[in-house]
Amino acid sequence: MNVLRFSDLAAAGRAKGARVFIRADLNVPQDDSGRITEDTRIRASLPCIRMALDAGAAVMVTSHLGRPTEGELKPEDSLAPIAARLGELLGRTVPLVAHWVDGVKVEPGQLVLLENCRVNKGEKKNSEELARKMAALCDIFVHDAFGTAHRAEASTYGIAQFAKVACAGPLLAAEIDAIGKALANPKRPLVAIVAGSKVSTKLTILQSLAKNVDGLVVGGGIANTFMLAAGLPIGKSLAEPDLLGDARTVIDAMKARGAEVPIPVDVVVAKAFKADAPATVKAATDVAPDDLILDIGPKTAALLADKLKAAGTIVWNGPVGVFEFDAFAKGTETIARAIAASSAFSIAGGGDTLAAIAKYGIEKDVGYISTGGGAFLEVLEGKTLPAFEILARRAQG
Ligand code: 3PG
Repeated sequence: MNVLRFSDLAAAGRAKGARVFIRADLNVPQDDSGRITEDTRIRASLPCIRMALDAGAAVMVTSHLGRPTEGELKPEDSLAPIAARLGELLGRTVPLVAHWVDGVKVEPGQLVLLENCRVNKGEKKNSEELARKMAALCDIFVHDAFGTAHRAEASTYGIAQFAKVACAGPLLAAEIDAIGKALANPKRPLVAIVAGSKVSTKLTILQSLAKNVDGLVVGGGIANTFMLAAGLPIGKSLAEPDLLGDARTVIDAMKARGAEVPIPVDVVVAKAFKADAPATVKAATDVAPDDLILDIGPKTAALLADKLKAAGTIVWNGPVGVFEFDAFAKGTETIARAIAASSAFSIAGGGDTLAAIAKYGIEKDVGYISTGGGAFLEVLEGKTLPAFEILARRAQG
């Protein structure tokens, strides 16, 4: 995608002395006392901030945190814990500025963090007045918030319309490049794993991928619906019988292209959804009326692992079983380790997937781990995200 890149502007000296406004996604999980429990997004935002500082810019960074009410800054919505963590990671104090829309004092070489941009009135609805005010704060607007790239809000979209210069930061650019490599120009075979509890939440993703991938591995409750569509018994497992027609359409679309949706040949079942429920491996044809399918079986996992090892590109979204319970985690672990061992370029995204990657410690063996949740899913649906649309439009002049 043709967008202006901040790295090129910085290398050309255009950021020196300039006021640079970076929209990052620093929306990280916190515990009840506000302590950050996972800081990947903060660390992923550092290259852009460092790039701007090294280029001699006056640097303003903002992000949303949660979904606060506009017009009031409650203590729990404050970016204070983020400022502290950023300061630790950068080895400098990061001042936090509230009420910043009408003006920000910052000099070249300085960095300030602007309070939660979602407390500004008009942010969610992309108010033109607010967007124009934010755009007036800077010479260069840098969109580096991939996690929020699917939102058209004042600090992600409107500002990009009105800023003198609007470009993609290194994180956003890396995400575009990785997604392009995986989906637009993949080394084949391209295998996608789409798992989760419901077909309905991922139907558009399945339909979109069915036009492109060579193998579509389904897992979790989604696999149950596909098993039902294939005429297999699933007992009292989670499934959506009203979507059987859609599941069959996906299977047929894949078949028509000479591609496949592998249906589990064996499964791990239990009589209750509990961590300590006794787990039994059964052939997919033998599931009893009172069984709950909670994982794929070892034969299925081995077959899928072989496909993943032979793949040229892998896209992974969703664990294939209830991996939070050890007795039902082996399918997801086998998939994770096969991805890690595969020479394929792999891209993974989504909260549960990231948790599985962390659980099995395979971070370094995945080609690219996306920082996007909803944004990653929308890309898999084949949508053009608002961030890319506006940046591409601005790049045309
Ligand atoms: C996310 O956590 O997926 C992003 O930060 C976007 O947050 P939102 O869904 O509240 O817009």
